[in-house]
Amino acid sequence: MKLMIDCADYDKIKEIIEFYPIDGVTTNPSILSKLRKNPYEILIQIRNLIGYDKELHVQVISKEIDNIIDEAYKICEVLGDKTFIKIPINKQGLKALIILSNKKFNTTATAIYTPIQAYLAAKAGANYVAPYINRIDNLGFDGVQVAKKIHNILKNNDFKTEILAASFKNSYQVLELCEYGISASTISTDVIDCLINSKDISFAINNFINDFEETYGKGKTMIDF
Ligand code: E4P
Repeated sequence: MKLMIDCADYDKIKEIIEFYPIDGVTTNPSILSKLRKNPYEILIQIRNLIGYDKELHVQVISKEIDNIIDEAYKICEVLGDKTFIKIPINKQGLKALIILSNKKFNTTATAIYTPIQAYLAAKAGANYVAPYINRIDNLGFDGVQVAKKIHNILKNNDFKTEILAASFKNSYQVLELCEYGISASTISTDVIDCLINSKDISFAINNFINDFEETYGKGKTMIDF
């Protein structure tokens, strides 16, 4: 499973990338606007930080089809044509997705709440479909099960479209999708830190060091012998 960071904060992304094996960065209009800067200023910084080996996903704001297309061209002009254009999938979004797929843009169908919405987006040529796990949970449904169902639909219909699961609130949701072989997940920096942040892990590591130091002396390591 590819692992992406759902964040637009340069410093946080830099810190996470330094420690974790990350495949890309996703943003959305809410995440970007929280920073109260020119959105391209932020996104250019992120692109320069992650380069072109890692994916960058940027969402359009417009609801009209022609404007969605114009935004896609502008985003790729500024951030490179490998940038994934995130399009929320309603009727207009679906049409814009068909147009952009035919023009060979990289696309991510976002705001996916139902399997049939994902099926339509896959058929329209999306590279990724992004089901919102936690938001689906909050509607009283099971977000993880929805993502699994989408996975089966994509596999059983031979779509090349991948899942980019989004909107996580805990590491168990991530783990379940990883076990099922979901292609990619995008996770907030808080949840990424929870993936490996455990008092038991720290306790075990410190115990090893203490045992070693008791015998060989404070600060001694394997390079001292
Ligand atoms: C990803 O495409 C979405 O923008 C994002 O993951 C939504 O997450 P949230 O439900 O935590 O806002």
